[in-house]
Amino acid sequence: MVAHGKAGLCSTLVPAPVISAQSLTKKYDDFTAVAGIDFEVAPGESFGLLGPNGAGKSTTMRMIGAVSTRTDGELTILGLDPNTHGPDIRSQLGVVPQQDNLDLDLRVRDNLLVYGRYFGLPRKQIAERADELLEFAQLADRRGAKVDELSGGMKRRLTIARALINDPRILLLDEPTTGLDPQARHILWDRLFRLKERGTTLVLTTHYMDEAEQLCDRLVVVDKGQIMAEGSPASLIRDYSSREVLEVRFGSDKNAEAAERVQGIGERIEVLPDRLLIYSDNGEAELVKITEMGLHPITSLVRRSSLEDVFLRLTGRSLVE
Ligand SMILES: Nc1ncnc2c1ncn2[C@@H]1O[C@H](COP(=O)(O)OP(=O)(O)O)[C@@H](O)[C@H]1O
Ligand SMILES: [Mg+2]
Repeated sequence: MVAHGKAGLCSTLVPAPVISAQSLTKKYDDFTAVAGIDFEVAPGESFGLLGPNGAGKSTTMRMIGAVSTRTDGELTILGLDPNTHGPDIRSQLGVVPQQDNLDLDLRVRDNLLVYGRYFGLPRKQIAERADELLEFAQLADRRGAKVDELSGGMKRRLTIARALINDPRILLLDEPTTGLDPQARHILWDRLFRLKERGTTLVLTTHYMDEAEQLCDRLVVVDKGQIMAEGSPASLIRDYSSREVLEVRFGSDKNAEAAERVQGIGERIEVLPDRLLIYSDNGEAELVKITEMGLHPITSLVRRSSLEDVFLRLTGRSLVE
C-alpha cells in the first residue's frame, strides 16, 4: 500500500462543488431575508430548498443567479464570485424564475430563438436546439402558437425549455410547479426527472414536500432565512420523524381533550386544529391502544412520515398555511 498517494487520490475523487455558500446573508434595509446560510451543491446533484412562503428561497436563488448582490458572507458559482463575474456566471446558468417572464408578443418557438440570440449563439445552432427543446418540453405541436394561448403548465415547460437553450451547467428552478393543477405538475416532474437522469445539476425551491421528495437528492429545510436541517429526503425523515404517523380526528371541539387522554401513546403527538398526529413506528398498534382506552375517533389513517412531518417537528408549523 502506498500511503503517501492515498490522500491525494481521495482529494481528486471528490468533485469541486458547483455552488458554495458560507454565511450567505441578504438584508433588505434592516430586515434579514437570508440569515447566514451554508450549503454546497455537487455537480450532477439535484439540490432543493424546501420552506414556506417568506423563508428566503427566492432571495437565495437570485443571489445564486447573480442578479441580486449578497449583503454578507461568501458565495461562489462554478468557482466564480458573482460580485465580480456576474455575466460569466449568468451565461452558464439556466434560470426558471418563480413568475414566468415569457415574451407574450412572440410565438412559442420565437421565444426560444430570441433568448438564444441573447447568448450570442449561432442562428443554425439555436434553431436546431429550439426544435429539440420543443420536443423535450412536449410543445412541438404548439411551436407557432401565441404564448397567451398556452395553459399554465405549458408556459412553465416553455420557460424551462428557454432556460436550457444555452446548454447550462446548472438549472435553477424557483417553485417550478406552484399554481399548477395536479396533472400539469406530474408532467413537469416527469420532464425534470429526465433532466436529472441525464445528469443536469438542478437547484430548485419548493414549498411542496412531495415535490422535494420526488426530485431532490438532497435538500435544506429553510425557515425565516435560516437552514433548519439538511440531508436526503429519506435521512431527514429518519432523523426527525418516526416511520409512520397515525392521524385521528375526534371532531372539531374534541381533539384537544382527546390529546390529553392519549398522552404517552406513540413517540410524540402533534395537535392540529382538525386532527391529532401520533408519531410511531407502528401506527396500527397505537390505534388499537386508543380504541382499548374507549376512545373512538371519527376517522383514522396510518401513513408513512413525510417531509411535512419533518418541517412540523422543526418549526411547529405547517409548510403550507
Ligand atoms: N425586494 C425586497 N424588498 C424587501 N423585502 C423583500 C424583498 N424581496 C423579498 N423580501 C422579503 O424577504 C423575505 C423572503 O422573501 P423571499 O425570498 O421571496 O421568500 P420565499 O421565496 O421563500 O417565499 C420575505 O419576508 C419578503 O417579504
Ligand atoms: Mg419565492
